[in-house]
Amino acid sequence: MGRPAPGTLTVMCGIVGYVGAKPALSVVIDGLRRLEYRGYDSAGVAVLADDKLATAKRAGKLANLEAALAERSWPESSVGLGHTRWATHGPPNDPNAHPHVDCTGSVAVVHNGIIENFAALRTWLEGRGHELTSETDTEVVAHLLEEELHEAGGLAEAMRRICARLEGAFTLVAVHSEDPETVVGARRNSPLVVGRGDGENFLASDVAAFIAHTRQAVELGQDQVVELYRDRIAVTDFHGSPAPAREYHVDWDASAAEKGGYEYFMLKEIAEQPRAVAETLLGRVGEDGTLTLDEMRLSDDELRDIDKIVIVACGTAYHAGLIAKYAIEHWCRIPCEVELASEFRYRDPILDRSTLVIAISQSGETLDTLMAVNYAREQRSRVLAICNVNGSTIPRASDAVLYTHAGPEVGVAATKTFLTQLVACNLVGLYLAQVRGTKYGDEVIAVIHQLAAMPEKVEQVLGTVAPVRALAGSLADAKCVLFLGRHVGYPVALEGALKLKELAYMHAEAFAAGELKHGPIALIEDGLPVVVVVPPKRGRGPLHEKIVSNIQEIRARGARTIVIAEEGDDSVVGYADTLIAVPQAPTLLQPLVSTVPLQVFACELALAKGHDVDRPRNLAKSVTVE
Ligand code: G6P
Repeated sequence: MGRPAPGTLTVMCGIVGYVGAKPALSVVIDGLRRLEYRGYDSAGVAVLADDKLATAKRAGKLANLEAALAERSWPESSVGLGHTRWATHGPPNDPNAHPHVDCTGSVAVVHNGIIENFAALRTWLEGRGHELTSETDTEVVAHLLEEELHEAGGLAEAMRRICARLEGAFTLVAVHSEDPETVVGARRNSPLVVGRGDGENFLASDVAAFIAHTRQAVELGQDQVVELYRDRIAVTDFHGSPAPAREYHVDWDASAAEKGGYEYFMLKEIAEQPRAVAETLLGRVGEDGTLTLDEMRLSDDELRDIDKIVIVACGTAYHAGLIAKYAIEHWCRIPCEVELASEFRYRDPILDRSTLVIAISQSGETLDTLMAVNYAREQRSRVLAICNVNGSTIPRASDAVLYTHAGPEVGVAATKTFLTQLVACNLVGLYLAQVRGTKYGDEVIAVIHQLAAMPEKVEQVLGTVAPVRALAGSLADAKCVLFLGRHVGYPVALEGALKLKELAYMHAEAFAAGELKHGPIALIEDGLPVVVVVPPKRGRGPLHEKIVSNIQEIRARGARTIVIAEEGDDSVVGYADTLIAVPQAPTLLQPLVSTVPLQVFACELALAKGHDVDRPRNLAKSVTVE
């Protein structure tokens, strides 16, 4: 897997395509408006009329594009496509906005995902005289289509041929002025759905885009190409053989559309976690088989000089930092402190040029974290940001940045961004270990493979959380819930308690299970719900048996035990009033699965109490005051 150069990635993005009797431009713009939750770094459209292609694109929100469209008259058209971009890094400017066109100006294409071999394709295209005008990976697709259109009989066949040459994840939608009746789409590991209308058909990243026109949808499979005409659709695989596609009725209405059918963004964001983790991992291994982090921007020599790491963050991001400490110290043998950003600069921390400060922030705007970054840089420490929002303040104030690719998170309580922060921290730890030689190359790759298995495990957790929902419903009247964990399970417990406070407005507290006997055990009384995160049996020394003893101690004093343990761990069955099994995972990666039931628990408990989980009282998504 090669990695595109910085400035190229679009991971989230919303796509719309239309063929029908209505004015294509307004259908596409309306669809983009409903997909704007997927990104608003730039937007663009292309329509076909009188055998010509007309395009427009603008950086910024959709409103900017609409203003640009209003500046000139547009031909009446019944075929069009559009795109709204969420850039993960690199400038979200006009040239990088989609659609991208070929040299002849007859093909326009929009894209969601990452074309991992785009650098080699770009070199090949430039060698054949193509002029590429953007920094995106997407533009190569327009030029590859141009190449193939000479030989292939039409846009759909050209699309099939080029898809076979592309590596990575992509949804592509294209139009060609010489195929004026059709829009062609393709997908691999990236969403694309067909809306089947009456005398009109739609393509979109999400049914939200066309739900106002039709509720009949066709789900495309992986590695399929779809040709969209007014009165029919044709689906094939990349070799041109007809492919099955599942048709279904969408049973929710337009008002729920931006939430993709979920009642709350938070529920949707919890469900998106497997993809968010996968996308944060995508393209991190170079052609030579080593871990490559292009956004790192700190030289290997600088990284070798580091003798201390300080992680600064707030809220959920702080918990990600607490978990990261275990992996970083274990893999890199560098002392690693984790500090609340709001406390950091006031205690006169010892920092110098050989300190690496890692600032974790979903929004990149949290003022406490920003102030900590500024302070660290004044002390001449090097600062690496782990951030989810392209171009936000904290990455700009830092020496280097590693972007998580979670996509926009709307719910105030962080969920999918937490999991991607864990992945990003692991990548930083592995990268440092590789550069400093504290792990062999094959050891680094072995962990990358373990990480690559995590999206499926997270998916598995999501598929088995129904009992967690029932449990949450039964605890709606509880006054307090305690959380216990050891090792990385301790910060997971902290995160579980934070989620419950934020969403259900309940008293919730987490303790390191070893601390129980030093005070918190006095809190245990009959019926008190206590959630315990149990580490894998195979893991670190006697951790597992110690926590099993802790469970027995609290149960003996009347606690209602809710135990999160890995599948097949029979040792806890006798002591768990409720057992939540999660898939087996290496000890250091277990938080990626053990956190998920806690998110669901807090969310469902809050819903049972009638709270708005997207906008909990008194909180804000991004806290820009100290
Ligand atoms: C706010 C949010 C939390 C978040 C914290 C840090 O308090 O409500 O969910 O964890 O800020 O935000 P950041 O954007 O820096 O990760």
